Amino acid sequence: MEDKKPLLTVTNLKQHFKINRKFTVKAVDGVTFEIFPGETYGLVGESGSGKSTIGRSIIRLYKPTSGEVVFNGVTISGQLSKKDTTHLRTRMQMIFQDPMACLNPRKKVMDIIAQGLDIHHLYKSQEERRVKVYQILDMVGLASEHADRYPHQFSGGQRQRIGIARALIMNPDLIIADEAISALDVSIQAQVVNLMKDIQKQTNTAYLFIAHDLSMVKYISDRIGVLHLGHLVETGTKEEIFSNPIHPYTKSLLSAIPQANPIVEKKRVALTYDYGKSGIDYNKGENKHLGGTHYVLATTEELELWKK
Ligand SMILES: Nc1ncnc2c1ncn2[C@@H]1O[C@H](COP(=O)(O)OP(=O)(O)O)[C@@H](O)[C@H]1O
Ligand SMILES: [Mg+2]
Repeated sequence: MEDKKPLLTVTNLKQHFKINRKFTVKAVDGVTFEIFPGETYGLVGESGSGKSTIGRSIIRLYKPTSGEVVFNGVTISGQLSKKDTTHLRTRMQMIFQDPMACLNPRKKVMDIIAQGLDIHHLYKSQEERRVKVYQILDMVGLASEHADRYPHQFSGGQRQRIGIARALIMNPDLIIADEAISALDVSIQAQVVNLMKDIQKQTNTAYLFIAHDLSMVKYISDRIGVLHLGHLVETGTKEEIFSNPIHPYTKSLLSAIPQANPIVEKKRVALTYDYGKSGIDYNKGENKHLGGTHYVLATTEELELWKK
């Protein structure tokens, strides 16, 4: 992994929202991580930890307060030229949690999926446009007939497939999926995750897969980042995070996952983590390298203590 060049590099990203003269929400407060081509990076953390804000800052729905985001070798966190904007809008796509909210109810699926192609003039004829939409529909497990229907004629899982198709048709290098499966039934979640994995094998698209618990990212992710209060407290491969968690917050998240094996489940002890009482100050920690792509946010003293 490390010998490959990263597709996305996020360095010390901060996104602060000024609420009034006295108060600023530090939604994202110095986050650093990388995503490699074709991999899935799972970003987990409780509600309000800053996951969506990270996604939105990367894709430039927000202008970052500070820090740097480099995508395909192009810095996209500062002033964007027209060329860089087009690069960003075509090579990076987003899938949202609630497909109904972002699929125009008055438009047919054909036009919803072709929107990116329309905006960026990515076909030479109507025939080519139609064929591209049919190919993507097939890829996400829908039929050509579906192109003539409206979003309300689909189930939740099917609508999420439309959302995926709309992103995929651009043939992006990176898809940001912000809680894209959280609202679906558990059985449908598995289907959509499997679909995303299959597509990734064919297209080599990288995913930033955002979810609020570790059990959801476990299956799909190659690497995982654990976010808490706007800080990335730990990041590493799935194996590193699951078998060698260092940060107490990561450990508490892992201990909250119910185990399928009843004997193991009976012995499971849910660890509590109270930042306020822990004596930990995220602003004092640094990203300590533990080997590979495993990092933990800690002071030297904390690291000594946690590694024991
Ligand atoms: N546009 C905004 N203006 C002010 N505060 C915001 C804005 N967006 C998010 N926040 C705040 O930033 C924090 C992180 O939010 P968010 O990124 O949505 O978290 P998550 O996606 O992990 O639930 C929350 O405290 C939220 O209230
Ligand atoms: Mg969110």
